[in-house]
Amino acid sequence: MKDPKGRKVVGFDKHVFVCENKRDSGHPRECCYRKSKDDIKTLFKKELEYYAKENIRINSAGCLDFCEQGPTIVIYPEGVWYSVMNPEKDIPEIVKEHLIDGNVVKRCLIEL
Ligand code: FES
Repeated sequence: MKDPKGRKVVGFDKHVFVCENKRDSGHPRECCYRKSKDDIKTLFKKELEYYAKENIRINSAGCLDFCEQGPTIVIYPEGVWYSVMNPEKDIPEIVKEHLIDGNVVKRCLIEL
Protein backbone atom coordinates (compact mmCIF):
# COMPACT_ATOMS: atom_id res chain seq x y z
CA MET A 1 0.00 0.00 0.00
CA LYS A 2 1.34 3.47 -0.93
CA ASP A 3 0.41 6.96 0.20
CA PRO A 4 -0.39 9.76 -2.30
CA LYS A 5 3.35 10.55 -2.54
CA GLY A 6 4.18 6.96 -3.47
CA ARG A 7 5.73 6.06 -0.12
CA LYS A 8 5.12 2.63 1.35
CA VAL A 9 2.54 2.80 4.14
CA VAL A 10 2.60 0.39 7.03
CA GLY A 11 -0.66 -1.49 7.40
CA PHE A 12 -3.05 -3.57 5.38
CA ASP A 13 -5.97 -2.88 3.07
CA LYS A 14 -8.02 -5.53 4.84
CA HIS A 15 -7.57 -7.41 8.08
CA VAL A 16 -9.31 -10.72 8.82
CA PHE A 17 -9.54 -11.88 12.43
CA VAL A 18 -10.34 -15.56 12.94
CA CYS A 19 -11.61 -16.62 16.36
CA GLU A 20 -9.55 -19.56 17.62
CA ASN A 21 -10.77 -19.40 21.18
CA LYS A 22 -10.78 -22.76 22.96
CA ARG A 23 -12.96 -23.59 25.94
CA ASP A 24 -13.41 -26.78 27.91
CA SER A 25 -15.90 -29.20 26.38
CA GLY A 26 -19.37 -28.78 27.83
CA HIS A 27 -19.05 -25.01 28.24
CA PRO A 28 -22.53 -23.52 27.65
CA ARG A 29 -21.25 -21.10 24.97
CA GLU A 30 -19.05 -23.70 23.28
CA CYS A 31 -16.16 -22.24 21.30
CA CYS A 32 -15.02 -21.68 17.74
CA TYR A 33 -12.02 -23.96 18.16
CA ARG A 34 -14.21 -26.99 18.92
CA LYS A 35 -16.79 -26.07 16.27
CA SER A 36 -14.17 -25.80 13.51
CA LYS A 37 -13.53 -28.96 11.58
CA ASP A 38 -10.64 -27.29 9.81
CA ASP A 39 -7.88 -24.79 10.44
CA ILE A 40 -9.82 -21.79 9.16
CA LYS A 41 -6.90 -19.36 9.34
CA THR A 42 -4.69 -21.64 7.24
CA LEU A 43 -7.46 -22.20 4.70
CA PHE A 44 -7.87 -18.43 4.31
CA LYS A 45 -4.13 -17.99 3.82
CA LYS A 46 -3.97 -20.75 1.22
CA GLU A 47 -6.93 -19.33 -0.67
CA LEU A 48 -5.36 -15.86 -0.67
CA GLU A 49 -2.08 -17.22 -2.08
CA TYR A 50 -3.93 -17.87 -5.33
CA TYR A 51 -4.66 -14.16 -5.66
CA ALA A 52 -1.15 -13.13 -4.54
CA LYS A 53 -2.54 -10.46 -2.23
CA GLU A 54 0.07 -9.31 0.26
CA ASN A 55 -1.95 -6.38 1.59
CA ILE A 56 -4.56 -8.59 3.24
CA ARG A 57 -3.69 -9.96 6.66
CA ILE A 58 -5.18 -13.04 8.34
CA ASN A 59 -4.75 -13.17 12.13
CA SER A 60 -5.85 -15.36 15.01
CA ALA A 61 -8.17 -13.79 17.53
CA GLY A 62 -9.54 -14.70 20.90
CA CYS A 63 -13.26 -14.85 21.54
CA LEU A 64 -15.13 -12.37 19.34
CA ASP A 65 -18.29 -12.83 21.45
CA PHE A 66 -20.47 -14.43 18.81
CA CYS A 67 -19.66 -17.93 20.01
CA GLU A 68 -23.12 -19.35 19.38
CA GLN A 69 -22.86 -18.43 15.68
CA GLY A 70 -19.25 -19.54 15.24
CA PRO A 71 -16.82 -20.36 13.89
CA THR A 72 -16.59 -16.59 13.73
CA ILE A 73 -14.47 -14.15 11.70
CA VAL A 74 -14.57 -10.39 11.29
CA ILE A 75 -13.12 -8.37 8.41
CA TYR A 76 -11.88 -4.80 8.84
CA PRO A 77 -12.00 -1.97 7.92
CA GLU A 78 -15.56 -2.84 6.91
CA GLY A 79 -16.47 -4.47 10.22
CA VAL A 80 -18.30 -7.32 8.50
CA TRP A 81 -18.89 -10.43 10.62
CA TYR A 82 -19.16 -13.92 9.18
CA SER A 83 -19.94 -17.39 10.41
CA VAL A 84 -17.80 -19.99 8.65
CA MET A 85 -19.95 -23.09 9.10
CA ASN A 86 -18.83 -24.80 5.90
CA PRO A 87 -15.16 -23.84 5.41
CA GLU A 88 -14.66 -25.66 2.08
CA LYS A 89 -17.48 -23.65 0.53
CA ASP A 90 -17.49 -20.45 2.60
CA ILE A 91 -13.79 -19.54 2.58
CA PRO A 92 -13.26 -19.51 -1.21
CA GLU A 93 -16.44 -17.46 -1.58
CA ILE A 94 -15.54 -14.96 1.16
CA VAL A 95 -12.03 -14.54 -0.26
CA LYS A 96 -13.17 -14.06 -3.87
CA GLU A 97 -16.35 -12.08 -3.24
CA HIS A 98 -15.44 -10.02 -0.19
CA LEU A 99 -11.66 -9.70 -0.03
CA ILE A 100 -10.98 -9.51 -3.76
CA ASP A 101 -14.17 -8.07 -5.29
CA GLY A 102 -15.51 -6.10 -2.31
CA ASN A 103 -18.95 -7.74 -2.11
CA VAL A 104 -20.53 -8.93 1.14
CA VAL A 105 -21.37 -12.65 1.22
CA LYS A 106 -24.85 -12.32 2.67
CA ARG A 107 -25.51 -16.01 3.28
CA CYS A 108 -22.56 -16.17 5.75
CA LEU A 109 -23.33 -12.98 7.69
CA ILE A 110 -23.68 -13.19 11.45
CA GLU A 111 -26.89 -11.80 12.85
CA LEU A 112 -25.77 -8.85 14.98
S1 FES B 1 -15.38 -18.58 20.97
FE1 FES B 1 -15.37 -17.72 18.97
S2 FES B 1 -16.63 -16.01 19.11
FE2 FES B 1 -16.50 -16.77 21.15
